[in-house]
Amino acid sequence: MEQRFAKESRCYKTSRVFPTDVNNHNTLFGGKLMAYIDDIASISASKHCRRSVVTASTDSVDFLFPIRPTDSVCLESFVTYTGKSSMEVFVKVMTEDLKTAERRIAATSFLTFVALDENKKPVPVPQVVPETEEEKRLNETAEDRAEFRRIRREKSKNFSGHLTTKFPWE
Ligand SMILES: CC(C)(COP(=O)(O)OP(=O)(O)OC[C@H]1O[C@@H](n2cnc3c(N)ncnc32)[C@H](O)[C@@H]1OP(=O)(O)O)[C@@H](O)C(=O)NCCC(=O)NCCS
Repeated sequence: MEQRFAKESRCYKTSRVFPTDVNNHNTLFGGKLMAYIDDIASISASKHCRRSVVTASTDSVDFLFPIRPTDSVCLESFVTYTGKSSMEVFVKVMTEDLKTAERRIAATSFLTFVALDENKKPVPVPQVVPETEEEKRLNETAEDRAEFRRIRREKSKNFSGHLTTKFPWE
């Protein structure tokens, strides 16, 4: 089976927090950060498989600290685990206070992408090979997260089966 190192999918993105990016508390709007996370993670997934990819799921985004206009926001992402056609991507969000140089992990997230062929069908991806301690730790713990996702997906499917598509005015 074809293999690729986790580092081959690694991406970084650093941004300022502009006035148009903040919420009522003058900290980075959560939706903006989620868009950054999906964006960078999809690039890691594409670099890993060199195919079209779609986001299958986002486990959660844990906002650990507010991000202030005086911070720079640096996102790092890489593929941590691969199934047959799916890839788990880890995103770490770090902030740096531009005056004091204080750094924090402001958020973390795991996302799953699926590689698609020309007919938009799932297609096998290369197996990821972790090398650093952090990559290995994330790879070793990935099967538990994948199992949790499988159960959650089944529950979501069952749950949506009980929902109506009727609009309130109909
Ligand atoms: C994701 C999608 C392609 C899966 O297609 P499918 O026909 O259900 O495919 P399968 O059930 O064979 O699953 C394919 C792989 O996706 C994984 N997968 C599917 N849904 C998943 C989910 N919600 N979370 C995590 N993994 C998921 C499966 O575990 C499987 O992994 P594997 O091949 O590594 O074993 C399909 O559900 C889809 O197109 N969803 C919409 C995606 C989208 O529009 N995203 C937002 C915009 S990019």
